Amino acid sequence: MTQNSRGPELEDRLSTYYRFQSKIYDATRWSFLFGRRTLLRELPFARIETFKILEVGCGTGANLCRLADRYKNASIHGIDLSRDMLTIARKKTAKHESRVQLFRGHYGQVPLEYPYDLIIFSYCLTMVNPGWEGLIDVAMSDLKGGGILGVVDFHNTPVATFERHMAGHHVRMDGHLSPYLQEVIPQGRSTILPAYGGVWNYFQFVGKKPG
Ligand SMILES: C[S@@+](CC[C@H](N)C(=O)[O-])C[C@H]1O[C@@H](n2cnc3c(N)ncnc32)[C@H](O)[C@@H]1O
Repeated sequence: MTQNSRGPELEDRLSTYYRFQSKIYDATRWSFLFGRRTLLRELPFARIETFKILEVGCGTGANLCRLADRYKNASIHGIDLSRDMLTIARKKTAKHESRVQLFRGHYGQVPLEYPYDLIIFSYCLTMVNPGWEGLIDVAMSDLKGGGILGVVDFHNTPVATFERHMAGHHVRMDGHLSPYLQEVIPQGRSTILPAYGGVWNYFQFVGKKPG
């Protein structure tokens, strides 16, 4: 685990943003956070496998529940810096509480039980500005050799008004993540897909840390 010095500012900004957004998050985000289920289906793990997962920026716990349902023997950790998002995640994952553990804080600054076999970022990294590279670097050091990094997030948009709208929601959409991930894990696979006929593109990345 390495330190990321930009924690407090980001934490204040996103915690404030999610104070209200957490209340409408699950009711609204299904209509534009595409690719989350597909990413989980593409992970190279057997359903019965015993392994350790971390989701960074787990939010309200949608992926944590899907992971817990899919991988019955996995131990699953989620970290998020918003108390409001975690309150919802805690309720949603209560039925899996023996296997799902939640941590609050800025990834890279909270002690976690690394190493992990799988680390997921789902619509988290485009919100970490500045500092997204640091989070990927921390994940690479928190992963076991041979462990899997899975990412799904916005890629870019040709629509300037939409880009400005998303910037107002703290999201940066200029195709910056996929090339960096590909540099960090050259054998990883990045897939870029259109949303709503190309109003924006999102991407999925699955890569194996060299063992
Ligand atoms: C758009 S939500 C995504 C939630 C969930 N992963 C999903 O796919 O629905 C982004 C989440 O990342 C969290 N987050 C952003 N930066 C973070 C950081 N540095 N450490 C921990 N959580 C972070 C935010 O608080 C927010 O809950």
